Amino acid sequence: MKFLSIEQAIKKKKGIVSIRGWIYRERSSKNKRFLVIRDSTGDIQCIVKKDMVEESLWNEASKLLIESSVIIKGEIYKEKRSHAGYEIEVTDLETIHLAEKYPITKDQSQEFLLDQRHLWIRSKRMSSILKIRSTVFGAIHEFFRKNGYYEHQSPTLTPNAAEGGSTLFKVDYFGKEMYLTQTWQLYAEAMIFSLEKIYTIAPSFRAEKSKTSRHLTEYWHAEMEAAWMEMDELVDTGESLLKFIVKKVLDKNKPELEYLERDIEKLRKIVEKPFERMTYDEALKILDKKCKMKVKWGKDLRTIEEDKLSSLYDVPIFITRYPKEIKAFYMKEDPENPSTVLCFDCIAPEGYGEIIGASEREVKIEELIKKLKAEGENPKNYSWYLDTRRYGSIPHSGFGMGIERVIAWIAGIDNIKDAIAFPRTMLRYKP
Ligand code: 4AD
Ligand code: MG
Repeated sequence: MKFLSIEQAIKKKKGIVSIRGWIYRERSSKNKRFLVIRDSTGDIQCIVKKDMVEESLWNEASKLLIESSVIIKGEIYKEKRSHAGYEIEVTDLETIHLAEKYPITKDQSQEFLLDQRHLWIRSKRMSSILKIRSTVFGAIHEFFRKNGYYEHQSPTLTPNAAEGGSTLFKVDYFGKEMYLTQTWQLYAEAMIFSLEKIYTIAPSFRAEKSKTSRHLTEYWHAEMEAAWMEMDELVDTGESLLKFIVKKVLDKNKPELEYLERDIEKLRKIVEKPFERMTYDEALKILDKKCKMKVKWGKDLRTIEEDKLSSLYDVPIFITRYPKEIKAFYMKEDPENPSTVLCFDCIAPEGYGEIIGASEREVKIEELIKKLKAEGENPKNYSWYLDTRRYGSIPHSGFGMGIERVIAWIAGIDNIKDAIAFPRTMLRYKP
């Protein structure tokens, strides 16, 4: 027997088909049993007619509960009233596994669904988001490979902090203190001397004590690092990457976006319109003038300020040249204004927050040592990293993009936890 996916069966339009999948919904009338079968490609209503099948088949169909796995053979035909536009009249049915009573029913709380995550990922909502996620991952690989980047992996266990000590996860490494990596970056900076243009997609870890809709403790991080690259090209690369990803999702995931009721017009604008670019100083002026929000120079932008700014535009905003004090030690001092650094944060539209963090890298070794000390680090522990500034040092730049934040934004969902199958947050670490 040759099985068709539900999508293929629907494309076939008529004739006898065999499909396999799980019971998504079931109901009965006196002489009919309606079974909606789902697989990864779609779902379709299958009807068992009591008068048309053997008694044993009718009895078997009557027993089936939600999420039972089945093989069904029958005739597919056009049925306007059915949501797939087609239905199958069942002639054969084999139960592969008769499911127990399914714990998930309608209208359950977010927390319950997170407890049942291993089952909830079967839902149409989660499978739609996870298909978009798969497109996003594929698009990132495609974008960088097309543009001449090599894929490079940095270790997950690391002795160094890169993004400040407060969000480090400690690991007992045979009695020594190590950390789960916050970023691939320090190793990437060593690697560009070999491969020049590199990228990765890997988990990063942040011991975030914040219980927001934007923070995970384990998130997937797309990062790039490039030899010889400077600010303007870095911003262009971030913009091109985001446009490329959104375009791929629009090409591949229309049905999923529609199921999630995402406003597709808003995504089209992302592909078509240039993004906003402004300096930190300009951002403060706009916040003051247009939003009546005063931010003292030198203070980082808070979520409410980022949200307010993003509400003024329908495309992402690149905010460049932040004050040095609030940014990471490796960011390059702006020669034109040494109190700022050559960096950007990219803020997503519609209140999804910072999706990319980026900078040119400081090349002056004394400056790096000074800043490491200021952060309470011992520069000796970074001596391998400082070697990158001792042997053929060059201008270079890179960025990191939080993939779940990008997925949450593109899919239009309100919590980052739904952008990943098994989320990890301060309070959520199982299943
Ligand atoms: O801005 P961040 O901290 O920058 C870095 O880690 C750099 N080393 C990247 C680089 O230049 N290679 O993090 C980069 C991005 C953020 O803009 C955000 O999108 C995401 O990572 N991110 C998080 N996403 C989910 N949960 C968290 N707790 C996140 N922390 C950062
Ligand atoms: Mg950042």
